[in-house]
Amino acid sequence: MTDPGTPGLAARLRRTLADRLVRTGALRAPAWRAAVESVERETFLGSAVARATEHGDRWEVIRLAEMTADEWLELVYRDETWVTQIDGEMVTDACGVVYGAPTSSSTLPGLVVRMLEAARISEGDKVLEIGTGTGYSTALMCHRLGSAAVTSVEYDPAVAGHACDALARAGYTPTLVTGDGLAGYDKNAEYDRLIATCSVRYIPLPWLWQVRDGGTITAPLSGWMYGAAFAHLTLGGDGTASGRFLEDDVYFMTARPHGPPPMAVPYLGIGDRRSSRVDPRVMDCPAGLFVGQLAVPSAMKLGGGGEVVLLDVATGSQATTRPDPYGGWTVRQHGPLRLWDAVEEAVLAWQAAGSPHQSAYGLTVTEERQYVWLGEPDGPSWNLPA
Ligand SMILES: C[S@@+](CC[C@H](N)C(=O)[O-])C[C@H]1O[C@@H](n2cnc3c(N)ncnc32)[C@H](O)[C@@H]1O
Repeated sequence: MTDPGTPGLAARLRRTLADRLVRTGALRAPAWRAAVESVERETFLGSAVARATEHGDRWEVIRLAEMTADEWLELVYRDETWVTQIDGEMVTDACGVVYGAPTSSSTLPGLVVRMLEAARISEGDKVLEIGTGTGYSTALMCHRLGSAAVTSVEYDPAVAGHACDALARAGYTPTLVTGDGLAGYDKNAEYDRLIATCSVRYIPLPWLWQVRDGGTITAPLSGWMYGAAFAHLTLGGDGTASGRFLEDDVYFMTARPHGPPPMAVPYLGIGDRRSSRVDPRVMDCPAGLFVGQLAVPSAMKLGGGGEVVLLDVATGSQATTRPDPYGGWTVRQHGPLRLWDAVEEAVLAWQAAGSPHQSAYGLTVTEERQYVWLGEPDGPSWNLPA
């Protein structure tokens, strides 16, 4: 016999979740609170989810069938990210422990709501969402704006299929598109707000073309070192977009075509040797990592602490730092790009500004160039790999 669970428990858990999100500061607008209290997250999670284990690449699958209905609801309404797809395989088709990298998830509600608040979405807005995922964030927007105002694009056909079923079951009818969201969706343009729930290395130009003048693009920016910043750009009347990064620390999985290529560069550990002008451990903190990544956007980073290895996928250039026995660090650089010279320059500019959070930086996007600036648009700047 199916376990019916405790009547009213889901609604109670939704209220508790909303209270918690208000307390943590994620949730401010009463209209988003009403959405959180109304949208049933269980509809979007399906019958199995996965959670991280202490081994980064192993995921424990948790199935509804293995617990009571009440236990499942308690899990659903935790403010946690639940992974729903790993290496392209839906978690509903798996059991036990699964190896791989998450490729889709239901982001923790606190972060979803913080993004919606940060994007300043409100009644009357027409929104394009990139990364439908389970459809939970899409449903929150449909609740507040009405389904006709919401368009959402999902890259993965299996994920898109599940979201489409779930949204229909929940009674929402947004425009759902299966395809590469980096191309946007011009049939419903122009949009007032574009919001991405996957991170990008640079802002795809179609997004600029499909958002109206004065509209906004809210997207997590990341790169191949996984340094992150949260962009909130306003479209100027001249075809450009610009804005300072937000103070929220958000991290989202990388948009599929923007992920790093396979690490095909052999690590040689050779090259010209000199003393480093900066402590390589600065890249252990989120802001320092973001700054280092700005300087060498096609490099990947291995190691940490004083022992950093940078490998540039485009040129095979590399840099290796080592602590010296009596203090300081030595760097060896090899190849056409002096990776550590570039990192040092960016880190020294950051340190001269007081080692601020990423929100001290901003991003300007034009048809020709995308650049991150420190302080003001005419301050020190670094080009994104657009
Ligand atoms: C963190 S999940 C989205 C969470 C979702 N909004 C929710 O509330 O459940 C990110 C999603 O972005 C999708 N994605 C990745 N790259 C994409 C792209 N280029 N275009 C559209 N969707 C993409 C992934 O397949 C994944 O489902």
